Amino acid sequence: MQILDHINTFAVKVYLCCMAFNTEIGTSIETAAVYLKEGQLIGMPTETVYGLAGNALDPEVIAKIYEVKERPLYNPLIIHVAEQDQARSLVREWPPELEKLMSLFWPGPLTLLLERSKGIPDLVTAGLPRVAIRLPDHQMARDLILACGFPLAAPSANLFTRISPTTAMHVHAQLEGRIPYILDGGPCAIGLESTILGHENGRWVIYRTGAITASDLAPFLGIVHTYQGTKTPVAPGMLPMHYAPKTKLVFGPMNAEAPEVKSGRAALLRFKSRLPSKCPQVILAADGQTRTAAKNLYAAMHELDALGKDIILAEPVPEEGIGRAINDRLRRAGSSSV
Ligand code: TXA
Ligand code: MG
Repeated sequence: MQILDHINTFAVKVYLCCMAFNTEIGTSIETAAVYLKEGQLIGMPTETVYGLAGNALDPEVIAKIYEVKERPLYNPLIIHVAEQDQARSLVREWPPELEKLMSLFWPGPLTLLLERSKGIPDLVTAGLPRVAIRLPDHQMARDLILACGFPLAAPSANLFTRISPTTAMHVHAQLEGRIPYILDGGPCAIGLESTILGHENGRWVIYRTGAITASDLAPFLGIVHTYQGTKTPVAPGMLPMHYAPKTKLVFGPMNAEAPEVKSGRAALLRFKSRLPSKCPQVILAADGQTRTAAKNLYAAMHELDALGKDIILAEPVPEEGIGRAINDRLRRAGSSSV
């Protein structure tokens, strides 16, 4: 693993020295498709977060994704398809339960881990036996995939471990100069990465929580477990170090009497109401809805991070529906901050 990482770090440096793009933001699917057909990467909108997209079937392009994102090579990529048949062509076996799931949840924020077919480059799955596939609920993303004629591998379009982007400007802030084009599809409707679901040892497992919850899936699959491991990279989205702002973030109940709050040195991430305090604060959901909070979460983290305060304090949201996934991301953002 370590040798691979050294090679990757070196490759990133060489690649970034040779390639400096004047990154354009636009709404042309044709332009984005031209770049992708040339083997370049672009920023792609989806309903969850923006992706850093490239031809999923070209190993050189996949290598470029790891380089541009500065992502370790052991952390595999999700393949995005425009139609169900395109997904079938990427897998060896199609469990019958999936027909129902696909008709109900695709297009949508559900990524399926399935036995990969032979044509998929090893680098996409980081050598793992399963491939992650999803059909995004964003018309521009699907039109783009159709215009390309090949599926698109796309991790979230942030640098490794940093905050995921939910607008074209967020992508620009992190990847400017590294890619030629960002397709602007507006702010992401959901705002949190997709739920990752797979079948393992006879049971269904959610490897990453998201907008589609275990109780949404239970009527079709029975009991759905949530992956508890943190060390093995079955789905490294479950690794503790992830989604971090540069500013130290502390996740937990908030107290107006805490020294950082009283001194005004903190920036506050609040669920639905202000804390009586002079600290700058962002309210995620004045309407008290966890879905609203999800949509605003990453933009709020970007905004608070840019203030350059000593610390960001983030309070938990209710553990219901997508609220679990929000708390999961905040917990990881906290554990990875310095
Ligand atoms: O909503 C999303 O899923 C977004 C948008 C752009 O589609 N994509 C996204 O990709 O979040 P990424 O790469 O940031 O996170 C994908 C997660 C990673 O934790 C990765 O380890 C896991 O999916 N994953 C991908 N392929 C896998 C595989 N073959 N086996 C196990 N885990 C996999
Ligand atoms: Mg990511």
